[in-house]
Amino acid sequence: MSDKKAKLILEPSGAAHEFDVISGTEGPDAIDITRLYGDAGVFTYDPGFVSTASCHSSITYIDGDEGILRYRGYPIEELASKSTFVEVAYLLLYGELPDAGQLSDFNRIITHHTMVNEALLRFFEGYHYDAHPMAMMVGVVGSLAGFYHDSLDIFDSRHRDICAHRLIAKIPTIAAACHKHNIGEPVMYPRNDLSYSANFMHMLKGTPCDAYEVDPLAERALDLLFILHADHEQNASTSTVRLAGSSGANPFACVAAGITSLWGPAHGGANEAVLTMLEEMGSVRNIDKYIARAKDKDDSYRLMGFGHRVYKNYDPRARIIREVCHQVLEKLADSNNPLFELALKLEEIATSDEYFVERKLYPNVDFYSGIIYRALGIPDNMFTVMFAIARTVGWVAHWTEMVSDPQFRIGRPRQIYDGAPKRAYVPMEERS
Ligand code: CMC
Repeated sequence: MSDKKAKLILEPSGAAHEFDVISGTEGPDAIDITRLYGDAGVFTYDPGFVSTASCHSSITYIDGDEGILRYRGYPIEELASKSTFVEVAYLLLYGELPDAGQLSDFNRIITHHTMVNEALLRFFEGYHYDAHPMAMMVGVVGSLAGFYHDSLDIFDSRHRDICAHRLIAKIPTIAAACHKHNIGEPVMYPRNDLSYSANFMHMLKGTPCDAYEVDPLAERALDLLFILHADHEQNASTSTVRLAGSSGANPFACVAAGITSLWGPAHGGANEAVLTMLEEMGSVRNIDKYIARAKDKDDSYRLMGFGHRVYKNYDPRARIIREVCHQVLEKLADSNNPLFELALKLEEIATSDEYFVERKLYPNVDFYSGIIYRALGIPDNMFTVMFAIARTVGWVAHWTEMVSDPQFRIGRPRQIYDGAPKRAYVPMEERS
């Protein structure tokens, strides 16, 4: 605790209240206003939590003005070029990079938890054939709570570990099964000889009749996208997992709550929306028209994949993904991909437009990711599911951190009541 203090003077009484100022390792200080209501009888008001820290965390650091993202202190650029998704998962969960033995044990544990209970697969039969995969993800991941209740003392670190392993391992199996349900093909069982990313591609694209050979570049590109999406501190879905978990709720159900939040187009749903937007735009000739719509205050239209609550600079993840787009398209798809060309041009025009410059709106992680997913043969309606697979690691790491925090308590925001004041019940015959 620093000895910095902040003083609040409430006018017109002039009553002064002093609060501790908390400093993290990096980033702005925060005023600890936990005692505010007790001492001064007022709340703070911060819709969208623009200026409110809800917890301490040592998992991920973002400096949005500088475009910096680090997991456990390691720059995202280094992890993206040197690490693997499973290693990053270990890092996010346990705080340190694993040694060779730890990584091999962790890999083995994750690999051997990838199968799901056969009865869980029957849940899919209840969904319409064209149900959105995210709708199935919400339901089926939540229903894991009904299957794995042997290790559910959330205050036991061994139990928390088992939950974390099950979630990280089973999410790709469930995700691929969602797609198989959509296209009416049999669910593929995981293969223990494949990497996390290659196994997912095998379950998504393989059939019992034909083995699916995963291209090493596709495997690496997917692994990289998983690394980039693995965590992003207190975003909407992670905060949702934390809030749901703050009541002591079942962790599988909490992750289902996170998937729900991720689905929205302002969050993880943006990657699917970007492709829809680019296709609707169709050609470079139409860019100006769509930019004009995005700038028009009377039009709710927004450029999808642009802007971020935290980044007021280029999203470092988008920079990495744009580079990988070139490589993937060159090797696996048409290097003259018209949608990629359109995206590059849109970025160029938007980032030199006064409206976007003034508001510091840059391409975010979702702007280019859909183009790579499509080149890898992943269907559009699975894009947000891909985000969910990766982010499960972050959700679980945050849930674990929260539950083991000595300051763990239920989350319960306040409100400003704007409704009717007290009034008497009006009998039906007197209502107009
Ligand atoms: N197109 C046009 N104008 C925009 C956009 C956009 N994509 N994003 C923000 N603005 C404008 C907004 O209208 C506002 O203008 P003004 O100050 O004149 O009222 C200003 O920029 C600030 O925006 P905001 O809505 O107050 O910002 P926010 O922090 O509440 O919202 C956001 C952040 C990501 C929801 C928003 O930028 C957005 O809707 N972007 C498009 C959806 C998207 O790409 N989402 C993916 C986010 S990254 C992946 C993830 O982590 O989920």
